[in-house]
Amino acid sequence: MSFYVTTPIYYVNAQPHLGHAYTSIAADVMARHMRQRGEDVFFLTGTDEHGEPVALAAERLGVTPRELADTNAARFEALMPRLNVSNDFFIRTSDPRHVARVQEVMQRIHDNGHTYLGTYEGWYCPRCADFRTENEIAEGNTCPIHHIPLLREQEENWFFRLSTFQEPLERLFAERPDFVGPPARYNEALAFLRSGLRDVSLSRGKFTWGVPVTWDPSHVFYVWFDALLNYYTALGFAREGEDLTDRFWPPTYHLIGKDILKFHAVYWPAILMAAGLDLPQREYVHGYLLLDGEKMSKSLGNVLDPFEVMERFGTDALRYYCFREVSFGQDGSVSTTGFEARYESELANDYGNLASRTLAMVARYRDGHVPEVATDAALAADFAGLEAEVAELLDRAELSQALEAIWVRVRRLNRYVEERAPWRLARDPDGAERLDETLASLLEGLRVVTVLLHPYMPATVEKLLDALGQPSLAYAGTSFADHGWSGTVAPIEPLFPKR
Ligand code: ME8
Ligand code: MG
Repeated sequence: MSFYVTTPIYYVNAQPHLGHAYTSIAADVMARHMRQRGEDVFFLTGTDEHGEPVALAAERLGVTPRELADTNAARFEALMPRLNVSNDFFIRTSDPRHVARVQEVMQRIHDNGHTYLGTYEGWYCPRCADFRTENEIAEGNTCPIHHIPLLREQEENWFFRLSTFQEPLERLFAERPDFVGPPARYNEALAFLRSGLRDVSLSRGKFTWGVPVTWDPSHVFYVWFDALLNYYTALGFAREGEDLTDRFWPPTYHLIGKDILKFHAVYWPAILMAAGLDLPQREYVHGYLLLDGEKMSKSLGNVLDPFEVMERFGTDALRYYCFREVSFGQDGSVSTTGFEARYESELANDYGNLASRTLAMVARYRDGHVPEVATDAALAADFAGLEAEVAELLDRAELSQALEAIWVRVRRLNRYVEERAPWRLARDPDGAERLDETLASLLEGLRVVTVLLHPYMPATVEKLLDALGQPSLAYAGTSFADHGWSGTVAPIEPLFPKR
């Protein structure tokens, strides 16, 4: 089965912050998990380089939009390997191959009769690049996301006949209740839809930093059309000399933050219908990472620098923290104290310590040899169905719940150590058999949770699998298959040392 997962493409008006890292890590967890299941995976992330948010930021800095785009796109692109994010391609919308394919699709939409020249009058947020309806406006005509005054715009634009998709979209939502998740976001999109769709601008005559409209080169496409189409265009050129469209279109999952719900859940399916293209299977909308109670945002300036966080706690600790501290799908606060607490109590104590002491005991009591005995059936019962449970949760993009399911077993294994007290068995002249069973069971439990943790903490998992004498998961196409034990295991340095 093919599995195509995407993140939003990020504006290059500023450098990346933890909010961007968050969505890309989430998509990486899904992509890695699906590769483990043997699916044919394509994972796309990238940068949104046109439009007013970028043009205005460049003007403020006294550089050209292209210069700003080049500088910041490089930062986003460098962030991905640093996060250990395994995207198969990084798209930049300034890429001429993207531009050409946008023009081709938009021309088709024009030819299909979905456009007209008209006048827009209304409120507009230049940071969101969003034409606002009356109920999307905060107190005093401000942007509810950026808290800046909205602009009253009047301009002659090409329009997209969004209103003609009212019924097809209502049918889509009725027929596919899982098109948007979680349910609260489905309901929000449906409410927007039911409030009545108005046609939207498809071009802008005021700007030049964008993709020229083929049938009217004095205009560029409104940045959202250019941006949304990245999910489609990328498949045409991500692989030199190969078109991946048939293999991966339509996408299995679009992961997005709730700030861009309307564009993805309403505009995007209408654009695809207008172009005669298949719709994505699912969109999953996560919440905001908050800092001091406010959405972390480059416009507000209250951001955590992911590079700094990784410098201090390590990449895997960051990846783990994101889905523990904040329940995926909801808003939640992050903080340095929160990081420290979870690093210490969960990563160092629960998991790191379980690994160290298990391996140390096998070294001390059995000279590193894996006891060749049956594992404890009572303990195995607590692990029964775990792999299927995790797979089912990740099929629904429930990243925090899947991680919790694994962590429950990590804690179970620690309790097992206390229950069995191997150090007492080692002193007991009749304890050898029970000690063998205990160590074999701990090793097997540790192997299972570790293989399942691969999508969340790939580097740590590699280190531990190596010590366990298990094959690497670093390369695509590895499954959950039980490879058996190679005979010996090796002690290990603390996986999460004191910081
Ligand atoms: O909207 N918490 O780009 P953008 C969680 N270019 N996620 C956050 C976040 C936070 N505090 N801040 C940002 C755009 N994000 C458009 C998208 S897609 C065709 C075009 C993440 O740079 C989250 O995924 O403003 C959010 O949707 C995205 O970054 C917005 O990035
Ligand atoms: Mg934004």
